[in-house]
Amino acid sequence: MKVGIPKEMINNESRVGMTPAGVFELVKNNHTVYVQSGAGNGSGFLNIDYQQAGAIVLDTIGQVYAMSDMIVKVKEPVKEEYAYVQRGQIVFTYFHFASSEVLAEAMIDRKGVCIAYETVEDEDGSLPLLTPMSEVAGRMAIQQGAKYLEKPEKGRGVLLGGVPGVAPGRVLVLGAGVVGIQAAKMAAGLGAHVTILDINMKRLRYVNDVMPSHVVTEFSNEFNIRKHIKDHDLIVGGILLKGAKAPKIITRDMLKDMRPGTVIVDVAVDQGGCVETTRPTTHENPVYIVDDVVHYCVTNMPGAVPHTSTMALTNVTLPYVVKLANLGWERACQKDASLQKGLNIVKGKVIRKEILEAFKWQALDD
Ligand SMILES: NC(=O)c1ccc[n+]([C@@H]2O[C@H](COP(=O)([O-])OP(=O)(O)OC[C@H]3O[C@@H](n4cnc5c(N)ncnc54)[C@H](O)[C@@H]3O)[C@@H](O)[C@H]2O)c1
Repeated sequence: MKVGIPKEMINNESRVGMTPAGVFELVKNNHTVYVQSGAGNGSGFLNIDYQQAGAIVLDTIGQVYAMSDMIVKVKEPVKEEYAYVQRGQIVFTYFHFASSEVLAEAMIDRKGVCIAYETVEDEDGSLPLLTPMSEVAGRMAIQQGAKYLEKPEKGRGVLLGGVPGVAPGRVLVLGAGVVGIQAAKMAAGLGAHVTILDINMKRLRYVNDVMPSHVVTEFSNEFNIRKHIKDHDLIVGGILLKGAKAPKIITRDMLKDMRPGTVIVDVAVDQGGCVETTRPTTHENPVYIVDDVVHYCVTNMPGAVPHTSTMALTNVTLPYVVKLANLGWERACQKDASLQKGLNIVKGKVIRKEILEAFKWQALDD
């Protein structure tokens, strides 16, 4: 199969759909890989790295789409890209169709085979192609939180690890999912005292089993949240209710109970945030202050570390890419139930009911 890797067109997106290691694997499986010139620059992979791995570098995005049976990307195609998608061409990327009717209509119109990373789902309900980005964001939450706790950044002026003779900082993690556990691990590694809250006892038991004793678990309820926000320096929001908006478990009135310079990193901002005063921010302007509390609410945290994020993403997408290239999409999806769930729009037909529901469309008969 001919596989194409275009350069991402979305503003400030430096990740790329495949690393040279992925190219190497596909070429080993007798496939041809076309990479748009400069596609990997932002992630630290140069044309020469791709060529040495066996790729053919093409000058324009149009050439990459025109020559390929399958396109492997990171983000959904932007408007200027729609016309490049060909009938029957596989496009494997994050689509998030339910949030863009224009995109869904365009892909129906282009009659491509759209397989969305975010709906590939394992038997246990986990989303293997979303997990690595939560891992990156969870770890970054502590890195960013530590920075904004510094006085020149308007934080409390607390060093998370403390020093001999001075108690360490205190980190409150809301949610013991992927983001929460990675955040807790990083904070504990720095020597901070960590309190982690969840409503799922299984998750709390797991955390209790695997984390050191300075990571303390408690059940998440309003009483405990009100108690802990008073004496924690950094609060990380990592909660998720699948398919729903995040509940606002920190309300506006609670801010006055926090000490001035407390930092909130609301990672759940992409689902609306779990703090009432959360509003989306960007890497250019990541923080704002409400009632002396610093809010960091960047919606695409992994975008700040594209080298790491690209590798983390492609580690998990590559086995599916190889399967799709070796078997073709129909056989690959027949053989792999997780991948089958990734089928969203196929040759003009909407497969996932969430897309129909999002835009109140009627299902078309076969
Ligand atoms: N901002 C970014 O760049 C970025 C990047 C990756 C993920 N995210 C977001 O981070 C959030 C968390 O993702 P995840 O992968 O860790 O999800 P996850 O499903 O692994 O974990 C969510 C956890 O929240 C818990 N939870 C639900 N309600 C709760 C409550 N009231 N109190 C405490 N805990 C509660 C759940 O039991 C679960 O353990 C999601 O909204 C995700 O979209 C944001």
